[in-house]
Amino acid sequence: MNRQLDNFTFVLFGAKSDLASRKLLPSLYRLARWGQLPEKYRIIGVARSDIGHAAFRTLARESIIAHAPETIGDESQLDSFCENLYYVCADFTQSEGYVSLREEIDRGIAHEASCSNLLFYLSTPPGLAPHIIDNLEKNGLGGKSITCKGWRKVVIEKPYGFDLETARELNAIVAGAFHEEQTYRIDHYLGKEPVQNILVFRFSNGMFEPLWNRQYIDNVSITIAEDFGIRTRGAYYEKSGLLRDIIQNHGLQLLASIVMEPPVDLSAEAVRDEKEKVLRSLRPLTTDNVRKNVVLGQYEGYRDEEDVAPDSIVETYAAVRLYVDNWRWKGVPFYMKAGKNLAKRVTEIVITFKCPPQNFFGHPESCSYTANQIIIQVQPEETIAIRFGAKRPGKELVTDPVFMKFDYKTSFESKKMSPYQRLLLDAMVGDQMHFVRQDTVESSWAVIDSIRESMKGVVPEPYPVHSWGPELK
Ligand code: BG6
Repeated sequence: MNRQLDNFTFVLFGAKSDLASRKLLPSLYRLARWGQLPEKYRIIGVARSDIGHAAFRTLARESIIAHAPETIGDESQLDSFCENLYYVCADFTQSEGYVSLREEIDRGIAHEASCSNLLFYLSTPPGLAPHIIDNLEKNGLGGKSITCKGWRKVVIEKPYGFDLETARELNAIVAGAFHEEQTYRIDHYLGKEPVQNILVFRFSNGMFEPLWNRQYIDNVSITIAEDFGIRTRGAYYEKSGLLRDIIQNHGLQLLASIVMEPPVDLSAEAVRDEKEKVLRSLRPLTTDNVRKNVVLGQYEGYRDEEDVAPDSIVETYAAVRLYVDNWRWKGVPFYMKAGKNLAKRVTEIVITFKCPPQNFFGHPESCSYTANQIIIQVQPEETIAIRFGAKRPGKELVTDPVFMKFDYKTSFESKKMSPYQRLLLDAMVGDQMHFVRQDTVESSWAVIDSIRESMKGVVPEPYPVHSWGPELK
């Protein structure tokens, strides 16, 4: 049991969503199993289907068994977790459901005599978020309308809006009901261990930071590749496309972590200030330069997927060259590449250093054969490798590339928290460091909007399934 955490009610909008079933409910169960939830908590699932508490408990039980089998342990623990689950049927756009929700919340509060500590989690399509926030406010459940001692927070899933305009609108609606300190915009990449480690790797070691700039670094590449397609998400992908789905959030957040200046301290605001400055320093992609710096692709067969238009020009792949026009990075290209149905599933950041001034030892045409690199693999492995040249055994003085490698799996034995587990706990205890701030969500959309605007009507290049996608020239 987590004695530092107040008793609270967790309200899960979209309780029957795929995300709730695969990630959220299993992560909540893991938190319970690890003793990270308070003594008393209630989880109220809210969704449209007309099912009751018992059916929701059965669904949750099945999801947890399917998606967190290693955590189950003693079945009686799963049973007692499920006793904390409740369900409210609601159409998110209509006010009636919120009255029932309020009643369900009040029942719990009266029963447990605690004040209303409430965490609302929106695992819903983006168009519904404004309705939910608005209705919470109208029903006295908004963060700003709290009248007793207690806390209220809202966690909002991506996509946070569809573009800058809708993100601004959503920010305004959210700000009407919740203070920014009560608002948690979630990007699950920020909960991944190797992503959180970027800050530690850069700023707890004296040897890397002096080299971390335009004088020594030649280029940086960020790859987020998946070896599967859009699965059953055709309808969503047709509206979203890869730039919005991956680059706007995961991609730009990885970039910001690599590029940011050291924060003045480790407060959430200090870290988020530095990330925001990165996005504001990105060289604008205008109509003149965007086509030189962006390639969009679509995997062959995408148009045959369910809910996809036969003449769709939605991108499932993007390669983008970005420049950070600030003192530290001016002139260094950042290559970001992400896509569906690529050759393998890998998320990796490669920092390539400049060559030494003279190339004595090897391949005269290029030093890239042994160029020094720091390779941060986020998944599937959680490793950091340093690549350098070593003398090939034998008489000749020639070099070959070799690697020194750190692997989370072999270096640490502690139990691994899943990204959602970690971020849910952060939201519960009130740590916003790994959540996206209002200004940054808007700055990220501004970058994506400028690319999309300039690429309007461009037909993405087809690429074969399980290839690496079209190259950026
Ligand atoms: C989600 C995207 O945010 O991230 C998906 O909507 C993508 O399209 C997923 O597959 C990737 O997450 P992970 O953690 O599996 O790399």
